[in-house]
Parts: sequence; C-alpha cells; structure tokens
Amino acid sequence: MSKLDILTYPNKFLSEPTKPLENIDAKVQQMIDDMAATMYEAPGIGLAAIQVGWDKSLLIYDIAPRNENRSLQVLINPQIVTNEGEILSENEGCLSVPDFRADVERAANITVEGHDREGNPIRMDAEGLLAIVLQHEIDHLNGTLFIEHISSLKRQMYKRRVKKQLKGM
Ligand code: NI
Repeated sequence: MSKLDILTYPNKFLSEPTKPLENIDAKVQQMIDDMAATMYEAPGIGLAAIQVGWDKSLLIYDIAPRNENRSLQVLINPQIVTNEGEILSENEGCLSVPDFRADVERAANITVEGHDREGNPIRMDAEGLLAIVLQHEIDHLNGTLFIEHISSLKRQMYKRRVKKQLKGM
C-alpha cells in the first residue's frame, strides 16, 4: 500500500462531479488499499477518490480510525435515497480543506444505496456521525466541499486566508 497525495482547496478538480465506477477490477482494489493507507495516516475518518485525483464515484470511511477495532468501509457509486431531520455537524473538517473547521447543518437520518468493494449491493440507514460522514463524502463525489454549506461570510474568510497563504509561498 502506498500513501497518495491529497488535493486541497482551491484545486479545481475537487469541484468536478465524478463518474460512475463501471468495473471493480484489480486497479480499483489497489486504489482502495492506497486510499485506506492515506486516510489512516492523515488521520481522517473518510476519503473520496476525487481527493486523491481520481474522478470516480468511490469513497471509503472508518468512523473509528484510531481504534484497534478499525473497520474499513467502502462505498462504490453511492446515492442518498432518503434524508430526514436535521443535525448540527459541529466543527466539521476535511482533509482537502486544511486548518479550517465549521459547523454544518446535515440531515439527521439518511438511507444510502451503493456497492461494496466486491460489487455486492448495499442499502444502509445511518444516523449521527455516520450520517454526517456519508453526506460529507458523497458531497465530494458531486464536486461539493463542506465550505459550500457554511455562511458566505465564513466561506469568504477562509478563501481570503488561503489566497494570502498561496501568495506567501
Ligand atoms: Ni472532505
């Protein structure tokens, strides 16, 4: 397994919608393993393929990444089929939006359909942190970063800060 580079805002690629993954072949398995190494190393609780430069509908997550009961989960071509209620995702962050956190309103309960890494169909209900992580990662597959969900004032603050940093490099 090898660690991959994570693209960060304002890389334009992050706002591209991804394409469905048609064939779950050896290349995909390798990508999943490399994404897992990258996510655990970061550390993060979720990672979408687009964040490592691959524009396919694939994400991984593990909401207990530092736990000895680590359990890597893979979703291919996921879709949110129902969403209900509201939950405040406190202090949400993203490996592609370094050094920034903000509260985000998310749906409290969702149902997701997709496929696992063997191609078996999955249908799952999620709430709490899991629902938040899945919405965040599926957003990535649609080219949306969590900063698109916060107030424009806060978003502009972050964008200005990044611009300044890039100028200073
Ligand atoms: Ni993210």
